[in-house]
Amino acid sequence: MRLSVAIDGPAGAGKSTIAKIVAKEFNLMYINTGAMYRAVTLKAIENNISPDNIEALCTIIEDMEMHFENDELYLNGININDQITLPNISQEVSAYASIGEVRIRLVNMQRTMSLKYDVIMDGRDIGTVVLKDAAYKFFLTATPEERANRRYEELRNKDIEVNYNQILKEIIRRDYADSHREIDPLKKAEDAIEIDTTGLSINGVVEKICSYIKSHKNI
Ligand code: C5P
Repeated sequence: MRLSVAIDGPAGAGKSTIAKIVAKEFNLMYINTGAMYRAVTLKAIENNISPDNIEALCTIIEDMEMHFENDELYLNGININDQITLPNISQEVSAYASIGEVRIRLVNMQRTMSLKYDVIMDGRDIGTVVLKDAAYKFFLTATPEERANRRYEELRNKDIEVNYNQILKEIIRRDYADSHREIDPLKKAEDAIEIDTTGLSINGVVEKICSYIKSHKNI
């Protein structure tokens, strides 16, 4: 059986930074499922498709080939990482990610990837839905203020003009939308290990995850 590691948690909890380092340590493919929902949002906006036009959304997804190389998402052969992390995509993505027909399709793609590779996957429903049988499940949290601060620094480092209060408001709004939607809401799996990353360094969190995996290697 293939090795799978699931990491869930709200926006800005440090999932992707940490998952990339753990991926290197155990030679896993890193699958950023949020990037896949962002890709659908990008294509929908480009084609003027609103979240209630489910038929059109399903049609565009059919033409989307997604894969990961060096931790980054390629859509139909093109690296779209910079476009999907822009604030306008963050604002719209929850609306598209709440649609059952969209989720079914992306969850299928994610499960197919997990059958082909040993993976570490991060998102909102990995431990509860996508990789229910994953041997290792983690749920990362941090206060909204700390998460907003991390996003602020990340965007500033990319020279993107941002306002801290706006990011905080946006993070709180997105947490609410993601944890209150009807289908596959953001939720800790019962068997996931919760790590509050507030005040912890990246290395501190990586260390906790890696030592847990190493000490339970026979799972
Ligand atoms: O992880 P990231 O913040 O990039 O995810 C963007 C959005 O995609 C989330 O706010 C959520 O609405 C959606 N998402 C999801 N299920 C996942 C991953 C992301 O609904 N597994």
